[in-house]
Amino acid sequence: MTEEKKDIYFKIFRFNPEVDQHPFYDDFKISVEKGVTILRAINYIKDHVDSTLTYRFYCQAGICGSCSMRVNGVSKLACTTQVWDELPNCKETDVITIEPMNNFEIIRDMVVEYTPVISKLEKYISWVTPKIKQQDLGKKEHIISEAEFKVYDAATDCILCGACYSECSMMTSSREYISPLGLLKAYRMVKDSRDTRSNDRMKVLNEDHGMWDCTHCYRCVEACVKKIPIMDAIQGVRNEAFLRGMKNSEGYRHAYAFTQDIKSVGRLKESTIAVRTKGIFGAISMLPFALKMLGRNRMPKVFVHTIPGIKHVKRIFQKIK
Ligand code: SF4
Ligand code: SF4
Ligand code: FES
Repeated sequence: MTEEKKDIYFKIFRFNPEVDQHPFYDDFKISVEKGVTILRAINYIKDHVDSTLTYRFYCQAGICGSCSMRVNGVSKLACTTQVWDELPNCKETDVITIEPMNNFEIIRDMVVEYTPVISKLEKYISWVTPKIKQQDLGKKEHIISEAEFKVYDAATDCILCGACYSECSMMTSSREYISPLGLLKAYRMVKDSRDTRSNDRMKVLNEDHGMWDCTHCYRCVEACVKKIPIMDAIQGVRNEAFLRGMKNSEGYRHAYAFTQDIKSVGRLKESTIAVRTKGIFGAISMLPFALKMLGRNRMPKVFVHTIPGIKHVKRIFQKIK
């Protein structure tokens, strides 16, 4: 073996609900050259070792978004991920783990049920409904300015691969949550001056499972295969709600509670924020999530001390009123 070629073990998740009672892992050892992608490696396994191995792919160029799967525990595009780049991420030397994305039902092996994503795109009206009449479509142009396009340019790079959906901590606690890609699409549509259904979209975004449920964990940003600043878009949709005076919402109450905490002690009283935002009953509904955080030793402190520089913070609040 030269340095440019080595034996790699692939530990691959297998599950065919029609015949398997439980998921299991299959191990495959193949010789891989430097420069080979994960997709090419599993294509080799399918073509030469086990033709029943099931996964999706199409473009093989990072464009269609269909080859998303978890590689060594993180959702990625198999066609743009190099085998050799994954070697430092292996838990066992030269053993690469391949699994289906999180937060989806499994159809077979790495193929997941994508219908919930499509349903969410429908629910949140993730398309432009132009002002131009139906009969004039294709005859007239509706030109947008360069400045406007810059606002949602990055969001248009989304290929709907689902990697952010798979890594989203809120999705894990509630499959009804709009999802990071849903919020990104919503932002892109809300900011498009050609669209006529912005109010309808904002209304449904303001409901439960919508724009206010994001926990700011940033995992979607880390996972995005196109490096799209998803959190900016999420913040952008929320800002739009404030600009439109949509105050009767959990989001507004959350922002208000946040502001009051910073003003009084200089930091967030996280242990009570859920009650102040969602009310008692709403906070009780978040218990499963809280228990999960407790299990990960990430529970907020009950007692919060005032920061030493609080008088400066208060001065800032006085200044900005
Ligand atoms: S920041 Fe929000 S949308 Fe992104 S992964 Fe975390 S909870 Fe999900
Ligand atoms: S936001 Fe990024 S990770 Fe999420 S679906 Fe779009 S391209 Fe994929
Ligand atoms: S096969 Fe299209 S993005 Fe990977």
